[in-house]
Amino acid sequence: MLTNSLPPASSVPHLRDVFAQNPKRFDEFSRNACGITFDFSKQRVTTEIFDALLKLADDKNIKGWRTRMFAGERINTSEDRAVLHVALRAAKNSDIPYVNDVHATKERFLDFAQNVRSSSKFTDILCIGIGGSDLGPRMVVKALSHLETPFNLHFISNVDASALTSALKKCDPATTLIIIASKTFTTIETMMNARTAVAWLTNALGTNAIADHCVALSTNEKAVNDFGIKPNHMFAFADWVGGRYSLWSCIGLPIAISYGADVFEDLLRGARDMDDHFRTAPHDQNIPVLMGLLGVWNRNILGCPTHMILPYDDRLSLFVKHIQQVDMESNGKVVMRDGGVVHDKTGPQIFGEPGTDSQHSFMQLVHQGSDIIPVDFIACAKPDHNFSDHHAELLSNMLAQARALAFGQTLDEAGGDESRVFNGNRPSTVILLPRLDAYSLGALIAAYEHKVFTQGIIWGLNSFDQPGVELGKILAKPISHALRAGSVLSDTDSSTSGLMKLISS
Ligand code: F6P
Repeated sequence: MLTNSLPPASSVPHLRDVFAQNPKRFDEFSRNACGITFDFSKQRVTTEIFDALLKLADDKNIKGWRTRMFAGERINTSEDRAVLHVALRAAKNSDIPYVNDVHATKERFLDFAQNVRSSSKFTDILCIGIGGSDLGPRMVVKALSHLETPFNLHFISNVDASALTSALKKCDPATTLIIIASKTFTTIETMMNARTAVAWLTNALGTNAIADHCVALSTNEKAVNDFGIKPNHMFAFADWVGGRYSLWSCIGLPIAISYGADVFEDLLRGARDMDDHFRTAPHDQNIPVLMGLLGVWNRNILGCPTHMILPYDDRLSLFVKHIQQVDMESNGKVVMRDGGVVHDKTGPQIFGEPGTDSQHSFMQLVHQGSDIIPVDFIACAKPDHNFSDHHAELLSNMLAQARALAFGQTLDEAGGDESRVFNGNRPSTVILLPRLDAYSLGALIAAYEHKVFTQGIIWGLNSFDQPGVELGKILAKPISHALRAGSVLSDTDSSTSGLMKLISS
């Protein structure tokens, strides 16, 4: 149990006191890498605890496991696969396996992107995918939306056809490129959306239109060919790329089409530099390791079941959705790599929304609720607009929220009104990017990826499979079959059958 190897939470004075005792706490507990500042000083740790956490990283052999990942060892044990999303952004002369293959594929899909951008054939890009084949590219396109793009992008993920029908109303088949992104090319939602979109295309232009208007991003060449997309319009990636870690591969084609190859390369470069930092920095300077260790401290010693991410930048409004999959699909498990059941609590529930909006919805609970919710604030020192007063107001609110969570307000300061007492002592990290450019975004995403890796090793998990998503898919099949036939399952529970009767009536 981690509680046996770490000091108790009670060993940490209130944040008010630790800051009063050490005026240089910010200097002692903030770090910088890839131009990004990570201020951990409002985390509830002392130097003694910090040292104990660093010892935990050594005891759990983070360094050894990191070396195994970058060397391409099959650490995804249940699927007998390597975990090499780092190869997707590695330099050509890197020692990481498969970089030559990666660069060859990257050149192909970036050339394709540039051809789409230089032709005047397309106005709309319909991106069909779900989970890791959607969240990453969609998030990056939104995050860099201050950049010019000549295209209207439509991301379709849900099998609920309301999104697809709404998008198709805005598109002209003659000027629409359909990108079908699916690692397996078997995911029900994606394949159903793809068939409906392709029918829309061919009804208007004939089946020959598929050749020029459809692109497939997948590992499954046979399924792509069976679907009717030719090899010259298929871009592949390897099975050692996890879906939630795949935006760096050809799955990122929507990014390259939107903003060009140079921006996509900047995104990769930011992630590459964070990879190098993760590989080489001593653990007391290593930002992803420290993010992971502090997350373990909050999860396993402070007993916090949730972890909140508050981007104070509206362009990062999809960032939390992406990190939800990266974190919760990786570490939302209780069975360890060796098949045993974990002894400790594992992956936290990740949620959050942009500030300042969150201040007007759920921050009441975060400030005065009965549970402590550790927070990552993310902000950019410089905006990509000219309204400096807006930006000052935005950042002031972010800083104030972090202060209020940490230091609270005493009864005296609240004028004797109990309802205005803020206990404070609520931990947060402030992550400050110089500005929201592709490089900084790539570094930020990679930092979170490696935080999740670090925590998975500490908890003894295989962070790279997702068995928990399979049962729902299996149970849905007979229900879908029955509902499409207008009937009800006989051999099921009374709730499901009762609801099916209502749906089918
Ligand atoms: O949620 C399960 C999952 O397999 C994710 O891991 C994956 O990103 C998503 O479904 C989509 O899978 P695919 O890219 O194969 O369509």
